[in-house]
Amino acid sequence: MKVLVTGGLGFIGSHTVVELQNEGFEVVIIDNLSNSSEDVLNGITAITGKTPLFEKLDLREKTAVQDFFKKHNDVTGVIHFAASKAVGESVEQPLLYYENNISSLIYLLQELQQKPEASFIFSSSCTVYGQAEKMPITEDAPVQLAMSPYGNTKQIGEEIITDTAKVTNISAILLRYFNPVGAHESVQIGELPLGVPQNLVPFITQTGVGLRQELSVFGNDYPTPDGTAVRDYIHVVDLAKAHVIALQRLLNKKNLAKVETFNLGTGKGSSVLEVIHSFEKVSGKKLPYKMMPRREGDITEAYANTDKANNVLGWKAELSLDKAMASAWEWEQKVRNK
Ligand code: WQD
Repeated sequence: MKVLVTGGLGFIGSHTVVELQNEGFEVVIIDNLSNSSEDVLNGITAITGKTPLFEKLDLREKTAVQDFFKKHNDVTGVIHFAASKAVGESVEQPLLYYENNISSLIYLLQELQQKPEASFIFSSSCTVYGQAEKMPITEDAPVQLAMSPYGNTKQIGEEIITDTAKVTNISAILLRYFNPVGAHESVQIGELPLGVPQNLVPFITQTGVGLRQELSVFGNDYPTPDGTAVRDYIHVVDLAKAHVIALQRLLNKKNLAKVETFNLGTGKGSSVLEVIHSFEKVSGKKLPYKMMPRREGDITEAYANTDKANNVLGWKAELSLDKAMASAWEWEQKVRNK
């Protein structure tokens, strides 16, 4: 049984392909290489000894998607990562985000609904909660008005999947990630942000290797213990493993509903300063940073209630923030040949 991983050469996608191949799945990747490189295939092969099938394809091209499913007609499991995901960019270019993130999802579901049965794992985000009222955040926390077109595409995506699963033979699991960080321990794959990183951890590691002068800490006047914002930083390998478990749950028909939702986090909140201190500890380097005003659209805090993922999905994050920072730092130094 072949599993399709869209965006499988990306950060979370590539780590998930490794875990799928470790579990003996045959994988075919679709990626348009807009935010990834074909070299990532070498990293996956180096780790697992197996090269996944790869089709360079843009999911916005409906006929290309139809042709793919004619060629790979044994695909009934899909893990869908492919999407544009820069919050700031989505505010400047909303139509690019709505076209890319929504039409690609629709074309995939149109193919899957023709099959006798299909399993669909969707890459969603804790961003759908906005600033949740109560910490830690449970899956029944209200979905709030999206703070960006990016966040809106995740909310709309969840609704499209839910409505479609009701009237087709598609079963789905929506995985709401908190903040994915780190890299595979082999240092063969990791995060490869294009241009100036928007996210905290790649900006820290690029500062560590001297690519950036200093880190701007966006706000130290939040109502948190040290004044900096709090997030739930989850190791990308833990996150990848959750995807395999979720797919197996659907394939083995263990799901309790046509659509299930799980928060994927560690259950622990870490402030920006705590992340900086973790980096300094694991790297032995002092990180230059300066306090700056808050970033538009940022929330104060978000960390997951992991009970449902632990007790129903049967998955628990095992890797610490220090391990994540150490692996991110190893990867950054390798990428910069330091
Ligand atoms: C984390 C914290 C920043 C950069 C976003 C998306 C979310 C998901 C993860 C895709 C915040 C602070 C950051 C910097 C800083 N993406 N920060 N200086 O915003 O929590 O989540 O990425 O699914 O959907 O919304 O992650 O890493 O950008 O920021 O002080 O140079 O670090 O203000 O408090 P965020 P982030």
